[in-house]
Amino acid sequence: MNKNTILATIASGDLCSDLSITGAELRALLHLAGEVKRNSAEYATSLNGRYLGLLFEKPSLRTRLTFELAIKQLGGDAVASIGPIGDREPVKDIARNLDRWTSAIVARTFLQETIDELAEWSSVPVINALSDMYHPCQSFADLLTIEERFQSLAGLKLCFVGDGNNVAHSLLLNGARMGMKVSIACPTGYEPDAKVLAQAEAFACESGGAVSVTNDPAEGVRAAQVVYTDVWTSMGQESEAARRAAEFAPFQVNGGLMSAASREAIFLHCLPAKRDQEVTDAVIESPQSLVFDQAENRLHAQKALLLMLLA
Ligand code: CP
Ligand code: NVA
Repeated sequence: MNKNTILATIASGDLCSDLSITGAELRALLHLAGEVKRNSAEYATSLNGRYLGLLFEKPSLRTRLTFELAIKQLGGDAVASIGPIGDREPVKDIARNLDRWTSAIVARTFLQETIDELAEWSSVPVINALSDMYHPCQSFADLLTIEERFQSLAGLKLCFVGDGNNVAHSLLLNGARMGMKVSIACPTGYEPDAKVLAQAEAFACESGGAVSVTNDPAEGVRAAQVVYTDVWTSMGQESEAARRAAEFAPFQVNGGLMSAASREAIFLHCLPAKRDQEVTDAVIESPQSLVFDQAENRLHAQKALLLMLLA
């Protein structure tokens, strides 16, 4: 491994949320992700003999498989436990079991508090693999994908169209700190968390970026180089699906909405997508759609994260 390419570690030692990493560390992570993507063979033994413990309370395709592949391609391995966290024994005991066996814990939980509690009691790094509040690993891959297309992030406008929850929060925080103009277009009642929005505004003030919220999707996407959406009903909210389908219907990303964005606009989605709900099949299959580049970049971004936390 070329150690010179690892520019920084993550000083907090965990990735509980996007607030666990500084702006400088995020820049270093994106740089390293690009380096690892171009020269993956150089990192094939970087994490020899290291094990990840994966704790997943909710389903996953991309996050679980890309963490398993990332650690294996870096020379390590992973073990997984799928199911409720904290039902059979306290979260603090789970943390103190896993830290005896593994080098890091990757957790997908319903509640952010579960991730914070794992980190409080674990002596090894804890990585948020999606909670109700944040999806930091997703936003790292998203920013990598955007930077690959436009060469830089500062000054670009990203409009997230949909529910102002976990994926939107991470994009707000990380986009704003990279100098992007992040707009959230959502139905009334689905605005981002006020504290997350205030933090993103503070990041935008420092970086020269901007943050805005609108209930008008056409206004949100105006001049946007990136149009992003996510499912209308997140995991755990299935009982609200019918009500949400009605409330979010005007926020579908379709050809009409894409044509209101910049002519060079790309379409992103964290996946899984519900076609012809939040996005039409035509848009997700169009040349503007980079959703599979995004999915690929989960692997490279998470390799960079693991190297910065563990190498
Ligand atoms: N985008 C994402 O996190 O996908 P999974 O739910 O399949 O992990
Ligand atoms: N908002 C979605 C993201 C899935 C990757 C959810 O929480 O289910």
